[in-house]
Amino acid sequence: MLIFKTINETREFLCSQKGKSLGFVPTMGALHQGHLDLVRKARQENELVAVSIFVNPIQFNNPEDLEKYPRMPELDANMLRSVGCDVLFMPDVSEMYPQPESTVYDFGPIEKVMEGAARPGHFNGVGIVVRKLFEIIEPQKAYFGEKDFQQLAVIRELVRKLSLSVQIVGCDTVREPDGLAMSSRNMRLTDNERAVAPKIYQALQTYARHKETLTPSSMKNSIVKELHNEPLFRIDYIEIADDTYLQPVSRWADASGALVFAAVFLGNVRLIDNVRIF
Ligand code: PAF
Repeated sequence: MLIFKTINETREFLCSQKGKSLGFVPTMGALHQGHLDLVRKARQENELVAVSIFVNPIQFNNPEDLEKYPRMPELDANMLRSVGCDVLFMPDVSEMYPQPESTVYDFGPIEKVMEGAARPGHFNGVGIVVRKLFEIIEPQKAYFGEKDFQQLAVIRELVRKLSLSVQIVGCDTVREPDGLAMSSRNMRLTDNERAVAPKIYQALQTYARHKETLTPSSMKNSIVKELHNEPLFRIDYIEIADDTYLQPVSRWADASGALVFAAVFLGNVRLIDNVRIF
């Protein structure tokens, strides 16, 4: 596996490989099996696989979250070698942002709800870095996990808006044996928090099955009530939203597909998850 820290070196190498199909997995490091699954899928579908590790400061609305974001580049590199990554791009902040970024994207209604509403500027920061990474790597396919379902929708919208030629591949959320969605933030949970964290997925999954007997608002209320039983949880939001524009669903008949989304704090760690209802 080749490791590059500069844009020029990365471009030069990838240029020398032109003609090979290239799959790309952008990450912020602190890799887990969820990331490795994306890399494995990219490995199956492409002749060349590139991964980036860059903790993108402009997508963090909370400075403490940025500061505490886990960083373990050597461990990450070893994991990536074990799943057959060819190129690892690990720029530092000055390489990616030689000057401050002023681009403002309008992703429409998708960015106005849930993560977009709770984390001002977050999706703009994601859009800026993902576009830059696509311009540097120029992949044919890029792989993203469905745990960040709204991010995936924003990136699809970015690609559509800018007519980028990359194909976006969404991949299933990978879970721990107890159901907790894998996330780099899980390693910041205390033992007590980690022990109760799977209750988020359990509540979503339990009530998502009851579409025939519950309205969207009663499903949401039941989940909120269930999660309130756990004193370590502080709910940021529970939403039932359609699978295209991610707008709140008030009647099942109004949507062709819907998911239930959760953002929950355990201490100062904020976890998100989602489950498809139909
Ligand atoms: O999902 C992530 O890890 C990040 O938001 C991404 C897509 C790598 C952009 O920084």
